[in-house]
Amino acid sequence: MKTLFITTLALAATFAQADTGKLDATTPGAVIRKEVYGQFVEHLGRGVYEGIWVGADSPIPNTRGIRNDVVAALRKIKVPVVRWPGGCFADDYHWRHGVGPQRQPSINSSWSNAIEPNTFGTHEFMDFVEQIGAAPYVGVNMGSGSVEEGQAWMQYMTAPANTAQGAERARNGRTEPWALPYVGVGNESWGCGGHMYPEEYANRYRQFQGYLKTYSGPKALKIATGPDTDDYAWTDTVMKLATRFRPNATSPILYAPTKPLMDGLSLHFYTLPSNRWGGVHPARGFGEAAWISTMKRALMMDELVTKHSAIMDTYDPKKEVALVVDEWGTWYDKEPDGPGGLWQQNTLRDALVAAVTLNIFHDHAERVRMANIAQMVNVLQAMILTDGPRMLVTPTYHVFDLYQVHQGARRLPLKLYAAPYRFGDIEVPGLSGTASVDAAGRVHVSLANVDANQPRRLTLAVQGVKPGAVRGQVITAPAMDSHNSFDAPATVAPREFSGARWTGSTLTVALPAKSVVTLELR
Ligand code: AHR
Repeated sequence: MKTLFITTLALAATFAQADTGKLDATTPGAVIRKEVYGQFVEHLGRGVYEGIWVGADSPIPNTRGIRNDVVAALRKIKVPVVRWPGGCFADDYHWRHGVGPQRQPSINSSWSNAIEPNTFGTHEFMDFVEQIGAAPYVGVNMGSGSVEEGQAWMQYMTAPANTAQGAERARNGRTEPWALPYVGVGNESWGCGGHMYPEEYANRYRQFQGYLKTYSGPKALKIATGPDTDDYAWTDTVMKLATRFRPNATSPILYAPTKPLMDGLSLHFYTLPSNRWGGVHPARGFGEAAWISTMKRALMMDELVTKHSAIMDTYDPKKEVALVVDEWGTWYDKEPDGPGGLWQQNTLRDALVAAVTLNIFHDHAERVRMANIAQMVNVLQAMILTDGPRMLVTPTYHVFDLYQVHQGARRLPLKLYAAPYRFGDIEVPGLSGTASVDAAGRVHVSLANVDANQPRRLTLAVQGVKPGAVRGQVITAPAMDSHNSFDAPATVAPREFSGARWTGSTLTVALPAKSVVTLELR
């Protein structure tokens, strides 16, 4: 009794904010698709070469050239889908360079004219996704490629071995076709992928999509190039012109607009600390102004998804077309002593960005049915960093690890009434959260305290869960830019969390400043 009294006093003294919330576990909503936890790999910097591929002769332990340490780490977080080969590189990629015994180097004109050895091609990518247990999402070259090239690649990957393309694949070592559940049609066609107007893209999309079929296995879901950030005009035009068959008055039955011509529309959005490109945005060694502006920018994802979805609703009220956020994450300055190639350190700040972004995706589970963080290894907001034979997992990886309990679970209504967090002239909600119930009936709640200084005490009124045990894990660290290094790889890592307790049907959670917590309510 005495201990309890002291603890209560201590809580009252320590917490400047008393935040409240409501969790209703009696009304599960949409399924949080596991594909929202997808990743993106591009031939850029050390993302593929060294990050994934070291070659069969490497002293780094590998399986058919793919490094074992990276595969083991990715298997642990259950990566559901990997987008490849780009990015801008996808519209620069000619797949034939990357198959067969004789691989000729080519130029990666998207990224500093680097030499692309083409040793990691279609077979190696498919081997990689099989090794980590993920599905492939292949981006077809629309910018500098042709319909014929795209169609031949689809046949190469998915046609039976008794066809010309299938036989070529078999000669190159793979008899069985691969399953290809997702195909992207161009990348950033408004930018590096062709600088098109949306009308032009929509027409080209209509033509390409007709030929990008799978010839065995599941029908590939086709994902069209969507907008950059808040380019709502792009979404409107592409949805208007490319979603449906063209109405045809003379044969309305033949051309009846039953199924959409696309299954997904992409959205690209990067978290730039000051809401614009340029300026000084170091990945570490930043102050609280950069911290809070990064949080504000990350939270903008909610506005973007809401507004793009509303436009999609006008053309696709049944939500048959998914919004696929296939590039998202933080993008900082080149590190002065880093290797370049969009390599950046990953700190506690990135963990918070990952958590609030995933929470937003869960809130929009009906429309956001896939997302791919940029990028998987050694590039931008990476899960994994490597240095030759050494490898570490980042704070962002740990958030994906904690959040895997939400993959495939049903979203639960969670309302938070949190005092704002302010610094300078910026204000953001102090807390962000999400909750879900999995197939076994386990309820999980994830909470992010974005406040860089103040711990928060959240009092959550819970409906539909019998109070019992509660256990959890927390990610936090002393500094805003705490990060893992090869010498200290566990500086930021999940720890057991004992700051939650039941009082009747109320759950009180003591959240440290700048932290991410996932709880299991039993
Ligand atoms: O992820 C890095 C680059 O960002 C991608 O290649 C491109 O699609 C985007 O602009």
